[in-house]
Amino acid sequence: MTTDHDTTFEPFASHAFYREINRELVYRALSTADAEQPTWATRRVVDIACGTGAISGLVVGYWEEHGKVGELIGLDPSDSALQRARRAVQSRFARFVQGAAESLTSLVSAADVVLFCNALHLLEDKGRVLAQVRDTLNARGIFAFNSSFYEGAYAEGTQRFYRQWMVRAMQTVRREHPEMRTDRNAKVAAMRWLSADEYRALLAENGFTILHQEERTADLPLESWTDISGYTDFAEGALPGIPLKVAVPALQKAVREVFEEMQLTAVPRKWFQVIAQRA
Ligand SMILES: C[S@@+](CC[C@H](N)C(=O)[O-])C[C@H]1O[C@@H](n2cnc3c(N)ncnc32)[C@H](O)[C@@H]1O
Repeated sequence: MTTDHDTTFEPFASHAFYREINRELVYRALSTADAEQPTWATRRVVDIACGTGAISGLVVGYWEEHGKVGELIGLDPSDSALQRARRAVQSRFARFVQGAAESLTSLVSAADVVLFCNALHLLEDKGRVLAQVRDTLNARGIFAFNSSFYEGAYAEGTQRFYRQWMVRAMQTVRREHPEMRTDRNAKVAAMRWLSADEYRALLAENGFTILHQEERTADLPLESWTDISGYTDFAEGALPGIPLKVAVPALQKAVREVFEEMQLTAVPRKWFQVIAQRA
């Protein structure tokens, strides 16, 4: 089990668009649960892959804004991320537990809402985890997830940007390290991006009804692309087989150049956002 926390995602997650997209999903999930069971006094919410607590903080914020009380359980395999989450989300409603999504049913039960933000795409066996989410939820419980790493995440008209970016990055790598080659087998199958249709099919197979789904577009400025270049999972996926200390600066340099050449101020990117209910 991973105990070290990879902090490379945090600069990307600190952008305003990131908070807004997740806030929309989390608030919609919690208000849907409230509408389903208006008489329940307390909600039990599980935040899978909570990391340093960005999503958990939104849940507590929702309860504060709406004068509600609840019990929030944040789960993550990384002990150091959980320590940071405990500091960031100081609420008597929240507690943080070490564990992977694959062990969900042995860690929590009887949840009203399960959230899984920006991480479901990382899992190898998504079906196995969705079955556990279903078993963890109370009848008519709500499951919400999102991802911007799915087949379809590239907004229309942005393919050229990605192509140019990767060509430029590889040119930089080759110039500085002529011996290096990308290795398409270096990236594990877990990172194959599923399509929205594949996610919908997995949800149906595992006993969920979709209540709301959208492909939400956000305009990402240059700084967010340089930040995502520094995220380990992203850099390994973009330039598989190239060591991170070479891949990250190459991606960052290339994206700055492509923004300038194509005279871009932002590049749109899509998030697949889903609210589903245990049937
Ligand atoms: C990109 S961060 C997302 C953090 C947060 N949910 C958000 O939306 O900002 C991915 C998180 O997934 C966690 N993670 C990776 N593998 C996991 C697994 N098998 N089960 C649960 N969490 C996992 C990592 O430790 C990391 O904190």
